[in-house]
Amino acid sequence: MDVLNKVSPKRFFEIDSFLAFLSIYEDKVRERAYLRLLRSCKKAIRGAICVEAGCGLGIMSEELAKLGAKKVYAVELNPELFKLAKARLSPYPNVEVIKGDIRDFKPDVQVDVLVHEFFGQLLYDESLYALADLRFKPSLVLPDSGALMCGTAFVDEWDDDVIDEAVIRRFDSVIVSGLFDEKGICPDVEVLAWSAKSGIESERVVDLSGKKGNLLYFGIEVRHEGKVICRSGVCDNWSFGWTWRKADRFSFSFSAPGGNRKIPHAPEAVFRWNKYKPENE
Ligand SMILES: C[S@@+](CC[C@H](N)C(=O)[O-])C[C@H]1O[C@@H](n2cnc3c(N)ncnc32)[C@H](O)[C@@H]1O
Repeated sequence: MDVLNKVSPKRFFEIDSFLAFLSIYEDKVRERAYLRLLRSCKKAIRGAICVEAGCGLGIMSEELAKLGAKKVYAVELNPELFKLAKARLSPYPNVEVIKGDIRDFKPDVQVDVLVHEFFGQLLYDESLYALADLRFKPSLVLPDSGALMCGTAFVDEWDDDVIDEAVIRRFDSVIVSGLFDEKGICPDVEVLAWSAKSGIESERVVDLSGKKGNLLYFGIEVRHEGKVICRSGVCDNWSFGWTWRKADRFSFSFSAPGGNRKIPHAPEAVFRWNKYKPENE
């Protein structure tokens, strides 16, 4: 779904992000995984002051209310999603839907539980950065962590008529999504980790020596208390990113977020192949 006619940059941002976030609701695996996580924390939620950062359509805030939260603040930046969440959550008197940036939200009570789903395709390339800049300090963050993972594979494994080795080589140092069917593979090397407590790691150099394959792919794991809640390859919402595997080592980091509060720009992934140098040289 794309905007096809000329509109102002602000309206374009609103509708473009509205369309992007609407499509996440096609991923029922993600939704069920999140609902399971909330239900597994029902003791902490019952009677608690809860905030959902970026409530989208309001499904998780509705669950918080059903699980017996004392009060739920459902904060949503996108004006179209805000209106839809407000309609969905109107039967719940203890849910307050607030239009705005979670970074501007300053409740006058202690927040017990913060729920968010701010993970991008490459982990930190969506809205996680906003959680480092909150005006309140929740006792519990759900989920509390995540990681960008990678794995290697061979182009031939997909038996694709179009995307063969010659084509994939054209993506030298560029990570692209949607190249291959994602089911059945699972990246197993951690690239960077994020936690609510420490934020995103600044940079890592990843060593692939010993791993076979001319393709490198990236996916995410959403984690809570060390357990994987959902991940790319299982949840369609986060597709894998693919690139030509040019060397054995690469470095990965994220740029600082940009833009302004009305039109924020998420951090971008900075990915570079490193020439392999043996330790003793
Ligand atoms: C991936 S969706 C998740 C929606 C909902 N939490 C769920 O799990 O169904 C992320 C939502 O956060 C909103 N969002 C992104 N950045 C935000 C911010 N800084 N403040 C408030 N909402 C934000 C988006 O508009 C979007 O609706």
